[in-house]
Amino acid sequence: MKKKRIAIFASGTGSNANAIIEYFKTNNSVEICLIASNKADAGVLNIAEKHNISTLVFSREEFKNADFLQHLKSVDLVVLAGFLWLIPEYLVKAFSNKIINIHPALLPKYGGKGMYGRNVHQAVFDNRETETGITIHWVNEHYDKGTIICQEKVTLSDTDTPETIQRKVHQLEHEYFPKTIERIICSQ
Ligand code: GRF
Repeated sequence: MKKKRIAIFASGTGSNANAIIEYFKTNNSVEICLIASNKADAGVLNIAEKHNISTLVFSREEFKNADFLQHLKSVDLVVLAGFLWLIPEYLVKAFSNKIINIHPALLPKYGGKGMYGRNVHQAVFDNRETETGITIHWVNEHYDKGTIICQEKVTLSDTDTPETIQRKVHQLEHEYFPKTIERIICSQ
C-alpha cells in the first residue's frame, strides 16, 4: 500500500511537530515528508533535521504564488502546527478537505486574527475562564473558521496562570493532535 504523506507547516518551536513525528515513527503507512516554515530560524527546523525530514523555508511572495504547489506534490494531508499566515485561496482549493489546523482554545472563543500563542492564554486567564482546551479544525480562507473536527477540554483553577494554562493546553495538543491526524488520514 502507498504511504500516506503528511506535510507540516510550522513557524514556532515545533513541540507539536515533534509529537506528530514521534507518534508516526513506528507507523509504516504514514510518512512525514516535509516540514515547511516561513521562519528560517524556527525551532521546528532543527527538529526536522534531527529526524532527517526535508525542510522548506519560504517567503510571503512564494507562498502567495500558486507555483508553491510544486512543493506539495503527492502530499495527502497538510497539517498546520503553529503556522500563523492565512492560507491562500489557490492552496485551500487544491487541498480541499486536506488541510487541518490546531488552535489552542475552544473555538469560536479566542479565535481570529491576533489570537495566537501566549495572547490566547492571557485572554483566557483575564476572563477567568474555568476551562479551556484545543480545537482541531479544517482550514479555509478565514482565520479559525473552518469546520471543527474535534475539541478537547481541560479544567482551570484559581491558581492557574497564563503559563500553566499554556502548559496544560500543550499537553492536550500533544496527546490528541497525532491521534486525530491518524484518524483523518486513515479514513481518506
Ligand atoms: C500551539 O499551541 C498550537 O495550538 C498553535 O501554535 C502553538 C504551536 O506550538 N497553533 P509548538 O510550536 O508546536 O510548540
